[in-house]
Amino acid sequence: MQKTAFAIKGNLFYSADKDHLVSLPSGYLICEDGKSAGVFERLPAGYEGIPVEDYGDSLVIPGLVDLHLHAPQYGYRALGMDLELLDWLNINTFPQEARYADLSYAEKGYRIFTEDLAKGATTRACVFATIHVPATELLMDLLEKTGLKTMVGKVNMDRNSPAYLCETDAAQSLADTEWWIADCEGRYQNTVPILTPRFTPSCSDTLMEGLGKLQKRTGLPVQSHLSENRSEVAWVKELCPETGCYGESYDRFGLFGGDGCPAVMAHCVYSAGEELDLIERRGVFIAHCPQSNTNLASGVAPVRTFLDRGLRVGLGTDVAGGFSASIFRAMCDAVQASKLRWRLSDDSLKPLSMQEAFYLGTLGGGAFFGKVGSFEKDYEFDAVVLDDSGLRSPMELTPEQRLERVIYLSEESAVAAKYVAGCKIKG
Ligand code: GUN
Ligand code: FE
Repeated sequence: MQKTAFAIKGNLFYSADKDHLVSLPSGYLICEDGKSAGVFERLPAGYEGIPVEDYGDSLVIPGLVDLHLHAPQYGYRALGMDLELLDWLNINTFPQEARYADLSYAEKGYRIFTEDLAKGATTRACVFATIHVPATELLMDLLEKTGLKTMVGKVNMDRNSPAYLCETDAAQSLADTEWWIADCEGRYQNTVPILTPRFTPSCSDTLMEGLGKLQKRTGLPVQSHLSENRSEVAWVKELCPETGCYGESYDRFGLFGGDGCPAVMAHCVYSAGEELDLIERRGVFIAHCPQSNTNLASGVAPVRTFLDRGLRVGLGTDVAGGFSASIFRAMCDAVQASKLRWRLSDDSLKPLSMQEAFYLGTLGGGAFFGKVGSFEKDYEFDAVVLDDSGLRSPMELTPEQRLERVIYLSEESAVAAKYVAGCKIKG
């Protein structure tokens, strides 16, 4: 079969690993059949004459990966942040999510969400919808059209939830979920369903058990929340007195990673001891959501510990716990939060560097989607072209300094072009 190849030219950056940011000024990044064929100073033998899109002095980075956000919460982001998690859910979140029973409201909310996500630097995301199947499918249809690669979850909740946002029982929640999964089959190329028990307090044991069986049967990935807030952790202890840690409340039903069960858990602010051992053993991904953890006064996750132990970690915006949907912003929040944790509570865990934060927002989270988040050969060709000429300065800046500035200023308006798995979806 004839391979289709093209190149883009610009100041290239990607993480080789968490400690090494590779930079290649005025380099060529070659795409072959949707995958990277590598980065080069000049076009190598065999690729002479392929089409080249020359982005001049622009910066080119891998697409950003958001491992955790809530689409129905996008509409009220940056509002009502002066509460802690459990009150915030009851007062702000649940009433908003209930509105997604109404498809015309859902259409308005999800159209704004998908259009904004498509404009920014994110190329891949793990997205929570709501309990409502029709609105979840509408969200998937809209995301599919953007060309972004996403995993989308119809949320399960059958207990400890207000009557207006609670599924009748485990049987109904499971039946709806199975119907939704069957209805998605063969319908999407960019969008896949992900099992989404909201968190242990909102899912009965019967529901969790059913979801565990469904996971085993389908091999679908799983997303949820873990050890985010002190009152939540204490509540889970009360609800599940027989489990040694919060993570076990998912693990006992086969919903916490391991063979054939990719899983991503948001937060892990209070994960320690046997919970971290379990996360490591099961290969669970951690979605670090520093802005949400600050806004809801949840705390600061020990990301340095996660990285030193070689755990799989990426970044999440957790909109609307986080008010910003920018992973650039999540990178700088991760660095800032780690500095405060180091200064105020534990000076044994040194702060994150910007290079480490860049790794988390690209390659670290990208691994949940396969070979994603790097420009090394065989990685999926997700690339973002940044034109930072609007950020004026009297100084001469190196490409490295310009990238640092775009990240700290979270300048998503600098996104001039965007490619996902080799398809140009913007620019
Ligand atoms: N835990 C359960 N539901 C939620 C949610 O919607 N946001 C956050 N941040 N934590 C949760
Ligand atoms: Fe969340």
